[in-house]
Amino acid sequence: MNGITAIHAERIRDSRGKATLRIIVEAGDARGAFDVPSGASTGSREAHELRDDDGGVTRAVHAVESEIAPALSGTDVTKQRALDELLISLDGTPRKERLGGNALIGVSIAAARAAASSLHISLVAHLRSLASMMPSRETPRLFVNLINGGKHAEGGSPIQEHQIVTETDNIAQALQQAEQVERVLGDILEARGILARRGDEGGYAFSVNSIDEPFALLGEAVRTCNIPGLSLGADAAASSFFNDGAYHVLGESYDTAALSAHYRSLHETHGLIFLEDPFHEDAVPDFAALKTAQPAFILIGDDLTTTNAESIRAAAKQHAIQAVIIKPNQIGTLTETIEAMKVARENSVHCIVSHRSGETHDDFIADVAYAFGAYGLKAGAPSAPERKVKYERLVEISHDRAHT
Ligand code: PGA
Ligand code: ZN
Repeated sequence: MNGITAIHAERIRDSRGKATLRIIVEAGDARGAFDVPSGASTGSREAHELRDDDGGVTRAVHAVESEIAPALSGTDVTKQRALDELLISLDGTPRKERLGGNALIGVSIAAARAAASSLHISLVAHLRSLASMMPSRETPRLFVNLINGGKHAEGGSPIQEHQIVTETDNIAQALQQAEQVERVLGDILEARGILARRGDEGGYAFSVNSIDEPFALLGEAVRTCNIPGLSLGADAAASSFFNDGAYHVLGESYDTAALSAHYRSLHETHGLIFLEDPFHEDAVPDFAALKTAQPAFILIGDDLTTTNAESIRAAAKQHAIQAVIIKPNQIGTLTETIEAMKVARENSVHCIVSHRSGETHDDFIADVAYAFGAYGLKAGAPSAPERKVKYERLVEISHDRAHT
């Protein structure tokens, strides 16, 4: 009995306190749920998030209960592609504006969980049955955002994320390393008299005098911990400070060449390796030029590619990216998410599965990252509970391989 018997939607709150959706799909005795996250520094080509004028999700709840639920009644949850194609055609718009990418991704992922439950297999095993692709690693590296800025911390660093990137295949150990660096960084900030609060992704947030300052502090914390294999990463989310043809950072304007030179100096001075969205979301050739100028960089597309298979293929063909951020709610169905990952891997681009800045306690992304051998899992600072559950789920899956 794999046919859908009921779909429910309800309003919950995300980590920013904003309304979001919890979707529950039932197929007889089997049941799956998904709590939908929400971005703040969104790419303009992302799936549309359906919201009321006051930011609520009443319209999205209504779209699920009055339109999606009756249309999907009896649909087989184990046939993910057919189910997602039905959702896409029911919506009928290019960016899922009518029923909402938030409603669609909720139903799509809740259905996948219901399918695993109905088939009495683990979610990882079920995901693997949906597609096969060349894994990047046995277990993902953790991309841990310890200093928040940009749209996730008003008044803080202009760079949105300052990350450490773990190397070990032992996820429990990787998580301990991240927690240790986070603690030591807190001690360093305190010793310097830097008053830090927490940004949207749980990392420290404080005002800075230069682009370099947070990288210097993070580098110092990493050296103090003396953990081999840790690298530094950043998400510039550069569309958020690009305006009228220039990048505006801490009262100064940079053209592409000047910003590129500054990124290269961050590599030389602080050892920055991983760099997401260094330029605005249409600047594919600028990504490629930066990689040529400093081949040590691993450049990552997020707003550039928005989990869209065609955008990833185009960016890869132009040698603009070596890795890509995968966010299921950016594209709006699980099938399209997996398709984006497949296209990335076929073009030798690594996948980094990612949370959103407005998160829930859902840990689905950890299963996706593990199931397809993703290069990385990016889920914020481990001290924030809605982030930590993702890392802990990865520890659980990787400890219990029999379970997969
Ligand atoms: P968002 O940011 O979830 O606010 O869009 C995350 C990111 O840019 O990686
Ligand atoms: Zn990003």
